[in-house]
Amino acid sequence: MIPESFIQDLLNRVDIVDVIDKSVPLKKAGANYSACCPFHNEKSPSFTVSPTKQFYHCFGCGAHGTAIGFLMEYAGLSFVEAIHDLAKNVGMIVPQQDSTPASREADATNKTIKLGLQETLQQAANYYKSELKKSERAIEYLKGRGLSGVIAAKFQIGYAPAGWQNLQSIFANYDNDALQTAGLVVENEQGRRYDRFRDRIMFPIHDQKGQVIGFGGRVINPEDTPKYYNSPETPLFQKGHELYGLFVARRAIRDAGRVLVVEGYMDVVALAQYGIEYAVAALGTATTPFHITKLMRQTDEIVFCFDGDNAGRTAAWRAAMNALPALTDGLKLRFLFLPKEHDPDSYVREFGKEKFELEMQNAMPLSQYIIAHLSEKNPLNAQEDLIKFVQDAAPILLEIKAPLSALYMRKKIAELAGLTVEALEHKLKLPNPNKTSAKATQKQSRAPLSIEKRFVLMLMMQPSLARPEHLNFGHGFSEQDILIKAAVNAALLQPQSKPAALLHTIEPLVEPRLLREIQRELQLLDESLDFKLEFTGACTQLMESLQQKRDDSMLDAVKEKPFSALSDQEREMLKSLTAKK
Ligand code: UTP
Ligand code: MN
Repeated sequence: MIPESFIQDLLNRVDIVDVIDKSVPLKKAGANYSACCPFHNEKSPSFTVSPTKQFYHCFGCGAHGTAIGFLMEYAGLSFVEAIHDLAKNVGMIVPQQDSTPASREADATNKTIKLGLQETLQQAANYYKSELKKSERAIEYLKGRGLSGVIAAKFQIGYAPAGWQNLQSIFANYDNDALQTAGLVVENEQGRRYDRFRDRIMFPIHDQKGQVIGFGGRVINPEDTPKYYNSPETPLFQKGHELYGLFVARRAIRDAGRVLVVEGYMDVVALAQYGIEYAVAALGTATTPFHITKLMRQTDEIVFCFDGDNAGRTAAWRAAMNALPALTDGLKLRFLFLPKEHDPDSYVREFGKEKFELEMQNAMPLSQYIIAHLSEKNPLNAQEDLIKFVQDAAPILLEIKAPLSALYMRKKIAELAGLTVEALEHKLKLPNPNKTSAKATQKQSRAPLSIEKRFVLMLMMQPSLARPEHLNFGHGFSEQDILIKAAVNAALLQPQSKPAALLHTIEPLVEPRLLREIQRELQLLDESLDFKLEFTGACTQLMESLQQKRDDSMLDAVKEKPFSALSDQEREMLKSLTAKK
């Protein structure tokens, strides 16, 4: 646990402009700095960094956050790693809070374990690579599959020789826990250890920083099984989160403005060999919404191309269904179906890059794929067919949160089912998608801000203006009241903090959608405003509406009673309040 106060200090001390400029060169643009957004593909810059507010915001894709958030999103650091990284840059030492010796020890052990794993995996990768150079047979196999030495080097492909305990030759302590945790050795029932990967072509799997986190190994001998063997899940490697080839393909994905998702290691490598360098593969699992979200940070066009066989078709449909919750209106998701006998590897080998890319242009959009799939085995003739169709479509419609995509999809389904959109929405109890997706509405024009939100904005800019009585402005329990109370409390406690630090403090308390809105508005805020004047103005208005509410409720209470039962004082009040109205 890192103490919250330290995080505040840190956010007030670092300069986000320096932090981001190191990886994404920034240009001064008015009060802010800007660049083409590193989280999505774009040609004109909509990524802005504010030195006064100390956070970044992209008006194109909605990415936003503090210096900590940037390091997490961009460099793939964990929260704690990001804190340590920033602290090092400004010469601060990260303290440990409430940490018992035991928990400190656990932390340290955890860290040592991860470091140990990383090192172990890297050492193994180096070993496999050097073994490939020595093995005529492995080299011949790769050549036979059309791969050049350059591509093999690019993907750091290696070879695990035959034999049970080869790793003993490079790891001084073969009994080391790290070897087993990393999944490089397996222990049998007698406690004897042996190498997991034997006589296999080795594909190292990298995380987004380029570190080796696991391996996939392919047999050379066609009789051996299984054909591919993967590292088990470890503290460094979760299959549902990682994509093979993403680290190598990063640049190419941005340049092409598109990513191609395929099924296999060999597909990724062969496509790169033939000049399609923007392909990645899920690791023997279905693509998850997490994968989609990860890819959407790099590009807004995703093409899935799975094998032409039945398994490939099943995988495509699963990918489509898993993508639904992550959809946005700006995302182009398409499916390329290859002839039955092909996979991307064999197809690109036979027809080449140009033909493959041409096919990609004509790939089937997600919306069309969904309709085609739903009506594939349904003639849509009898009433019963139509009912089944609507029932099959229902869970899909419920998953789509992007407003325009949801609307068009509902329209299409309703049309085919012979219903009106309203009837469909009503019968299936479909929610209003505008209410459920903040992300997708980001590009829409802004409604004027409520006075309460304006008050919070000014407070974030000038927290020293906060007074305890301002807590009254949020006296109820609505989301907005909670926001006001959180903001006033934070400002009272840290009157010298910058907006980024204050937002960080209130984050756990406030509804995420509301917080995003505040952050976005802060970024848009005109820096030349007189914040103090604006703040006082907002206070006056809030005071008036508060008074109004109090009067109203008092008036209601008084009105309940018969006039004769009122005290003189109450009669006086009634008169003056009625006059005021
Ligand atoms: P495929 O069986 O389609 O193999 O598995 P492939 O990609 O065409 O490979 P080559 O061309 O025969 O070399 C696709 C993916 O499924 C996972 C692997 O991730 C593989 O790349 N898989 C397959 C396994 O994990 N284990 C297996 O035994 C087979
Ligand atoms: Mn293949």
